[in-house]
Amino acid sequence: MERINKHHRPIGIFDSGVGGLSVLKEVRQQFPAEDLLYIADQAHVPYGIRTREEVLGFSKGIVRYLLNKKVKLIIIACNTASAVALEVLRKSYPALPFVGIEPAVKPAAEETSTGIVGVLATPATFQGALYESTVERFAKGVKILPDTCPGLVELIEEGKIDHPKTREVLEKALNPMLEQGVDEVVMGCTHYPFVIPLIQEIVGDDIQVIDPAPAVARQAGRLLTEYDLLTNGGANGQTRFLTSGDPLELERIIGQLLNLEARVEGLNWVGGELQEA
Ligand code: DGL
Repeated sequence: MERINKHHRPIGIFDSGVGGLSVLKEVRQQFPAEDLLYIADQAHVPYGIRTREEVLGFSKGIVRYLLNKKVKLIIIACNTASAVALEVLRKSYPALPFVGIEPAVKPAAEETSTGIVGVLATPATFQGALYESTVERFAKGVKILPDTCPGLVELIEEGKIDHPKTREVLEKALNPMLEQGVDEVVMGCTHYPFVIPLIQEIVGDDIQVIDPAPAVARQAGRLLTEYDLLTNGGANGQTRFLTSGDPLELERIIGQLLNLEARVEGLNWVGGELQEA
């Protein structure tokens, strides 16, 4: 019987689309020896305006696919899917380490001097119990200004990271926050770090914009160590990209967002399961 060395199994990372690439980039940088398997569920993007049941169903299907690929750890590189599915998945697969993402309200609340923090995230993330408990636990006495930035995920999916329409959506969200005195803005959706240069242009250099990706990658590293799963091979890690959308389009966007020439494989949803196209 063939035995797969547990250390050499890949790390699974997924998102509704290109957002999780902001996390993948960090994981790649911090753990260059690890193999990564990235799934973009672009057949269903955006997740943020879907029902809980839908996002839960997609997340479970993706996790079943990743488990068939023998991943050793899963990073849910999506605030929306984490809000809906993280707890359920941890209960369903108690032996598998999961890393989820919640809006980085805690560091923002610790660092704000004005006591006013802006959070940009999807409607589903704001409605979730994970967000509510994060605010309750870590942001006592801090005023939180939330905004869902309607249309922003779709614009970033199209690669419009420096487009007049993107600026319009961001200005509409950020200007009222500035008027009220925010000094910290949290990226509560993994798509948004790709527009940080534009955000910083709008809010100015005095405002701190928080991207959780480095902390998420560090947490993945802690779990890999704890479970004794860090790869012990010296070779450079490989990354496989898969999408339930258009592979050629994703190749183009990966080139644009990560400056990387990638080959993307196609997946199809068949009766709630992902299959190779
Ligand atoms: N990137 C995702 C998040 O962090 C999902 C965005 C969406 O599909 O609406 O919430």
